[in-house]
Amino acid sequence: MTGGIACYKIAELTRLLTKAGATVQIVMTESATQFITPVTMQALSGRPVYTSQWDARVPNNMAHIDLSREADAIVIAPASTDFLAKLAHGFADDLLSTLCVARDCPLLVVPAMNRQMWQNPATQRNVAQLRADGIETLGPDSGPQACGEIGDGRMLEPEAVYEAIVSFFAPKVLAGRKLLITAGPTFEPLDPVRGITNRSSGKMGFALARAAQQAGAEVHLVAGPVALQTPWGVYREDVQTAQQMYEAVMRAATDADVFIGVAAVADWRVDHVAEHKIKKTAEHRMPTFTFVENPDILASVAALPNPPYCVGFAAESGDLDVHGEEKRARKKVPLLIGNLGPLTFGQDDNEVVLFEAAGRTPLPRAAKQALAQTLVAEIARRLPDQSIIS
Ligand code: C5P
Repeated sequence: MTGGIACYKIAELTRLLTKAGATVQIVMTESATQFITPVTMQALSGRPVYTSQWDARVPNNMAHIDLSREADAIVIAPASTDFLAKLAHGFADDLLSTLCVARDCPLLVVPAMNRQMWQNPATQRNVAQLRADGIETLGPDSGPQACGEIGDGRMLEPEAVYEAIVSFFAPKVLAGRKLLITAGPTFEPLDPVRGITNRSSGKMGFALARAAQQAGAEVHLVAGPVALQTPWGVYREDVQTAQQMYEAVMRAATDADVFIGVAAVADWRVDHVAEHKIKKTAEHRMPTFTFVENPDILASVAALPNPPYCVGFAAESGDLDVHGEEKRARKKVPLLIGNLGPLTFGQDDNEVVLFEAAGRTPLPRAAKQALAQTLVAEIARRLPDQSIIS
């Protein structure tokens, strides 16, 4: 941690990382201790905090070597203007800068500064140099700043830094691949205030988008109406109806290497959406609707002349083995993921079976995020000309 008002965000980042099972060793510069106390950081990380290069508490009495050798990565957050300059030039005049120079692990920096300091040509030169040296820069964000000004330089929110760190460590089995994913329900209007939808939460599709991004893919997520945060680094396009989802997907499908249809797309829509709210009148106490079929997005993508690798999802209420394989064959997709029971809707975990021409593969019940990582690895293994990096 270096000096900056964003130091308070590292309290939350530390909590997120430790909760996820990481060991967090905090090292603070002298100025960082002016913004938040080492005692706070010690309590949150559950480890002693180091601030001085003369600290003799480490086994070989050389904190700058010991601390960096134990780490899988060093994350400088917040990274001040001054510290970026020091890193770019290899200065080593305090514990933190010395252990960065002495490190044998990856280094990530999370800049946090006033917009003018960020835009300063010297800072930009330093950041370019750090990138050229293989140092990963996370952010900065844009928006209101502690000083009252508005612009680039805000530190990323702790959740975003956490996601970026998790991403950094994920095996890049989808590096260079473009993934198109649909998620959530669709909403088919009846009139300006009413409509038909379903109970899909979007959690599985969003978890897959997140896992694919972490695996190095460029992810385009077409989402129906859901109350979920966009996963870090994912491009999201919001739609309401099946027709809009179809159009968004068809626009992007020719450019995709993989299409995963996770959305619970409405099979039907009303043939005529009422222009005004449908009223109960003495004669018309009960409206009747005529439905027309929505396009089958998955089957349409699979039928393209040069289709991406297509993966379908199926929520069945019974006889999954029969319906799963039948659906895969009917939609002409190489892989279909069948949910065991419709109870998956809205839940945090899921149990699935993979159907493909070669047969069925059941996967054990798991949290949707963990399952998404398994599915990403399973999909990556099946892609043609796969090149695995890391
Ligand atoms: O036929 P069923 O709706 O059960 O098939 C589910 C699979 O087909 C999912 O992958 C879903 O995203 C996709 N689907 C679609 N367009 C539809 C209906 C379903 O892409 N209109």
